[in-house]
Amino acid sequence: MTCCSYLFRKKGSSSSSTTRLPAVDIDISEIQNVNFYSYKELRIATEAFSPANKIGQGGFGSVYKGRLKNGSVAAIKVLSAESRQGVREFLTEIKVIASVDHENLVKLYGCCVEENHRILVYGYLENNSLAQTLLGHSSIQFSWHARRNICIGVARGLVYLHEEVRPHIIHRDIKASNVLLDTYLQPKISDFGLAKLISPNLTHITTHVAGTAGYLAPEYAIRNRVTRKSDVYSFGVLLLEIVSGRPNTNRRLPVQEQYLLTRTWNLYEKGELERLVDAFLDGDVNIEEAVRFSKIGLLCTQDSPQLRPAMSTVLKMLMGKKEVNEENMTKPGMIFEFVEAIDEEKQKGKAEVENTSSLLTGSGKQDDSSSSGIATSFATMTFTSIYDRSN
Ligand SMILES: Nc1ncnc2c1ncn2[C@@H]1O[C@H](COP(=O)(O)OP(=O)(O)O)[C@@H](O)[C@H]1O
Ligand SMILES: [Mg+2]
Repeated sequence: MTCCSYLFRKKGSSSSSTTRLPAVDIDISEIQNVNFYSYKELRIATEAFSPANKIGQGGFGSVYKGRLKNGSVAAIKVLSAESRQGVREFLTEIKVIASVDHENLVKLYGCCVEENHRILVYGYLENNSLAQTLLGHSSIQFSWHARRNICIGVARGLVYLHEEVRPHIIHRDIKASNVLLDTYLQPKISDFGLAKLISPNLTHITTHVAGTAGYLAPEYAIRNRVTRKSDVYSFGVLLLEIVSGRPNTNRRLPVQEQYLLTRTWNLYEKGELERLVDAFLDGDVNIEEAVRFSKIGLLCTQDSPQLRPAMSTVLKMLMGKKEVNEENMTKPGMIFEFVEAIDEEKQKGKAEVENTSSLLTGSGKQDDSSSSGIATSFATMTFTSIYDRSN
């Protein structure tokens, strides 16, 4: 494995022993637990980033499977050109990501910051993501026990990020494709801290909206307000997906069932939440627990962030150590309802869509307790961008 001295090597010269990067005056030795890989090593590991080794494509770039020099298998994430930040900003965030270590978080092995390249190297997870397995096509059968374990594991990882690690980390992109599974179906959250690796003048909200609008808390999507409670919202959506075995939005279903949150709320009001539970379980489920999990999902997705419980409370409720108080529970907040309301207006010719965009822009604010950082990049989302991609 290449050590950090790589960074300071001039082309063609052998490694030097300095531990400073003069151009940005960063003391690399401060960044512990991070391996610095050469571009060459990662190129070899992925067979020149060959399409055959590509395992995914997300909003931040492409992911390749590769074998590192030391023999370990890694997921190598090549950040896209637009995402490239300066070395200093990049390494500052890497330092934060590398400092966290938890059994329910994907391990960052290291990175490559050679020239314009910004590449992250993670531990490879055998069983892919929940999006591809539970919600996609795979032969894995998820028993209730496995699902329960996944929900609790993800909650644990989030409690750690939100409440234990200092400074706290808001994930900002909790969704089924960011929950990876190891050989034993133990869940590991990936991509924490990644939102902050993105150049502040890039509106990555558009990529969010492209695939994952259904996980976005309304205050985040509309007013760019990022707090730990926006992660709680996304977790609530994920929880309901795991219980029901279906994605949050499915346009192939009858209209009244297309949105998981609407369906869950309707069933809750009728006192029929057990109907939400995945039919694939074929009754082999602790139904009381599954209904309780669904109610927790509803608590997490309430419109008002203040009403949503903190992750540590969610974890206690999932584990049956705290009662689920559904008194005064309010309807889930959903951005697509907002979108549809405007759409109706548009149909009636009463509203100019572009004018509406001004409603949706605004200065970002962050939870005071969040890690200090940018909340600037998402303010340019327009109604049009939500609308176009929600189809
Ligand atoms: N550490 C990993 N181990 C195995 N597969 C991974 C890993 N990281 C990412 N992937 C795969 O690559 C895909 C793309 O990842 P990513 O770029 O994070 O986009 P997204 O999370 O939006 O799907 C993931 O959905 C997953 O299938
Ligand atoms: Mg991801």
